[in-house]
Amino acid sequence: MTYLKDKLTLNNAQLLSWYRLNKRDLPWRNTNSAYHIWLSEIILQQTRVAQGMDYYIKFITHYPSVESLADANEEDVLKDWQGLGYYSRARNLHSASKFVKENHGGKFPSTYKEIRALKGVGDYTAAAIASFAFDLPFAVVDGNVYRVLSRLFGIETPVDSTLGKKEFSQLAQQLLEKDNPAEHNQAIMEFGALQCVPKNPNCTICPFVDSCVAFKSNQIEILPIKEKKLKQKKRYLNYLIIESEDELLINKRDAKGIWQNLYDFPLVETTKSTSNKSLLNTESFKDLLNNTAYSVQAISAERKHILSHQILFAKFYHLSVGSKISTINGNFERIKKTELHEKPIPKLIENYLNEETNLLSLLSA
Ligand code: ADE
Repeated sequence: MTYLKDKLTLNNAQLLSWYRLNKRDLPWRNTNSAYHIWLSEIILQQTRVAQGMDYYIKFITHYPSVESLADANEEDVLKDWQGLGYYSRARNLHSASKFVKENHGGKFPSTYKEIRALKGVGDYTAAAIASFAFDLPFAVVDGNVYRVLSRLFGIETPVDSTLGKKEFSQLAQQLLEKDNPAEHNQAIMEFGALQCVPKNPNCTICPFVDSCVAFKSNQIEILPIKEKKLKQKKRYLNYLIIESEDELLINKRDAKGIWQNLYDFPLVETTKSTSNKSLLNTESFKDLLNNTAYSVQAISAERKHILSHQILFAKFYHLSVGSKISTINGNFERIKKTELHEKPIPKLIENYLNEETNLLSLLSA
């Protein structure tokens, strides 16, 4: 309980006047619809403000109420989410909207506890919705807030430790302007996003430069401190784009995981980077081809795709099988090439198809 004892304070008037002068005009700031704010916060966990804006507009247009989102089919929601990655967030969004429809009569809940209980809503998002939409006194603590507080007060506790999380949320709650929580929360986050930025902040124009502990002690570059370096597992994915004249094979991923219910291609996963020739000789490849005659049309270079817990190395093998597509072994779907763009697909595959092929721009006649 260090911070309560030390009684650290923040000049809230100064923070607010900085905010009112510098804030960006963002569409989710001009509403107190909890549903819209929830959508914006889930989207913004996934992307920067500039790109998030288009997704936000798309979602509030396609699904203007929580009920309309609940009634949508999951594949459409995933398709609208495409490009943001981490589809579990879209699945949680969809499933929470059904929960709101069924358990709250379609009205977005208005207490912190009920909001926090929704799928995909953690402490940060619950505090954001509760404060922005309902003016409830819950302090937000996101990456911006960690950075601002650790620097202003020179706090060296790692922000990703159990103790750090506790200390920072306690401090943020203590500093919160309780009679203006919505604006205070927006202000401290915006201050972190625009002024107290991770790299090379311009401290000479900072309103808090005279009291900032990190500035005085030359710790701007090292704060906030993180203790864990993420351990990322490496995976080697060899996708087979098996084509007949106008069809290709796709695979609906039903296993639990980040790509559940998205489509990809028949896949041979290997434990290390594999040469083209050795891949065509692996048992898994031969099993899948099941003696079907094929010709290799093209093979991509290895492409690297970084996720939070995995580094993916992907290669795409374009195989032509003439009229023999039905003899391929596996539970794949045959679709017209012109239908591929209708399917939700992982970002890694979307990027490849957009950059190296015309498969996503083929439209049916
Ligand atoms: N990032 C997350 N939430 C945000 C918000 N409400 N405004 C700007 N950036 C954000």
